[in-house]
Amino acid sequence: MSFSVKKGEFMLIVGSSGSGKSTLLNMIGLLDRPTNGKVFIDGIDTTKLDDGKISSFRNKKLGFIFQFSNLLSDLTVLENVLLPRQIAGTNGTAEKDARELLVAVELEKQMNKRANKISGGQAQRAAIARGLVNNPSIVLADEPTGNLDSVTSEKIVNLMKSMARKFNHTFIIVTHDRQHFGDVDRVITIKDGKAFDSDLAEMEVMA
Ligand SMILES: Nc1ncnc2c1ncn2[C@@H]1O[C@H](COP(=O)(O)OP(=O)(O)OP(=O)(O)O)[C@@H](O)[C@H]1O
Ligand SMILES: [Mg+2]
Repeated sequence: MSFSVKKGEFMLIVGSSGSGKSTLLNMIGLLDRPTNGKVFIDGIDTTKLDDGKISSFRNKKLGFIFQFSNLLSDLTVLENVLLPRQIAGTNGTAEKDARELLVAVELEKQMNKRANKISGGQAQRAAIARGLVNNPSIVLADEPTGNLDSVTSEKIVNLMKSMARKFNHTFIIVTHDRQHFGDVDRVITIKDGKAFDSDLAEMEVMA
C-alpha cells in the first residue's frame, strides 16, 4: 500500500478485525518499524532515524489517542495533559496551553481532579487534550470510541472534528465505528492486505 495524507486532513482507516489497521497506525506512529517500505513525515524519511531520534520525533510531531485513555491515575487531569510537554522539555507556556485545551474539551471543572475520579468519557476527552498538547503534525487515534457508549462516542467524534478544524491538525483514526464519524475528508479501507482509498460503506453498497 502507498498513500499520502494532507495537512489538516481528517482521515479514517477502516477494515475488518485483523486486517492490519493497528499495525499500519503503529508504523505511521513510529511505534513499530516496517520490515519493508518507508514512512515520511513532514518530508523526513523516518525509517532512517535511530531509536533516540525516533523517540523525540514521536514526542514532538505525533499525538496519540488510544481506545483506553491510559491516564496516570495518581496524577490530576491537568498533570496528565502536561506530561508530553514535560517530556518534550517545552515547558514555557505549557500550563497555559494545557488549561486552554482542557477548557476546549470542556474539562475546566475536572482539571484538578485525580484522573481516576472522572468518567470514561471525561478521561477520553482528557486523552484528546493530552494528544494535542505538543501541537503535533499528526494525531493518531486507534479506536478512540471503542470503549464508549454511543452517546459519548458521538460527543468524542464531534470533539475530535472540532479540534481538527480549530487547530488544523491532521487526524488519522482507526475505527470500527464508521457510522459515528459521519462526514470525514477521507476513508482508507484495508482489505486482503491492500489499502483502498474508498469508503467501506460505499463498497458495501456497490457489492
Ligand atoms: N506483534 C505481532 N506479531 C505478529 N503478528 C501480529 C502482531 N501484532 C498483530 N499481528 C497480526 O497482524 C495482523 C494484523 O493485526 P492488527 O492488530 O494490525 O489488526 P487490526 O486491523 O488492528 O485488528 P482489530 O480491528 O481487531 O484491532 C493480525 O493477523 C495479527 O494477528
Ligand atoms: Mg486494532
